[in-house]
Amino acid sequence: MRTIRDIELNGKRVLMRVDFNVPMNAEGKIIDDTKMTAAIPSINYLLEHGARLVLMSHLGRPNAKPDPAFSLRPVAVCLGELLQTNVIMAGDCIGPAVEAMAATLGPGQVMMLENVRFHGGEEENDPGFSRQLARLGDVFVNDAFGSAHRAHSSTVGIADYLPAYAGFLLETEVKMLRQVLEYPQAPRMAILGGAKVKDKLGLIRNLLSRFDILLVAGGIGNTFLAARGRKIGKSLHEAEFLRNAMIYWTSLPESASIF
Ligand code: 3PG
Repeated sequence: MRTIRDIELNGKRVLMRVDFNVPMNAEGKIIDDTKMTAAIPSINYLLEHGARLVLMSHLGRPNAKPDPAFSLRPVAVCLGELLQTNVIMAGDCIGPAVEAMAATLGPGQVMMLENVRFHGGEEENDPGFSRQLARLGDVFVNDAFGSAHRAHSSTVGIADYLPAYAGFLLETEVKMLRQVLEYPQAPRMAILGGAKVKDKLGLIRNLLSRFDILLVAGGIGNTFLAARGRKIGKSLHEAEFLRNAMIYWTSLPESASIF
């Protein structure tokens, strides 16, 4: 895997996809910045090596149009505090004004693009949109492990137009996943959590074929428990998925059980 260590960085504009889809409260305050701190090692490395850094991310699901509720502006402010530096906030993620901002960025400076999901082209992985994003960098770095399962313009499409590298977070996660998947000694157990069940259905089936025990917890586990009629109170679950959760469950191998 080519990583940011392989880039001749001096003065290059690095367009880096991060997953700054952080949870916020009703006042728009970030309540958990774990995803942001996870990207700091790559960001620091790039800045220390003289990169001109353009960051892009999605935030929430704004339905392919600009929506202030999903602006990355508070995220840029929080990032500035974490890095102890000024993070320049762009008004959009594509277009001539953003290109001009990216062109004037100096070595060691960092700029945050506005939410890539304000444009329909992002989730459609539209080549035109990918090309427009690609104009903002000389190389593309993906450090958005939490979004790596999405084939969108900013995660996948852009790599058709710029040389692509992995950031440290992505590299570490892939290494750890490999270690676990290739671990030769049985019994092997995987624990799967998360909020979004639909996204994980393929993963559950895949893990069941590779592990002796799979524990499903968090919002995913709650959804399956609720589908079986268990009382879960106000616990996080996907209410609209209960029927399909049961259909899916019965299609799994017999060893799958709900406790
Ligand atoms: C997440 O929070 O799971 C990732 O940022 C991906 O977000 P998405 O499910 O909206 O693509």
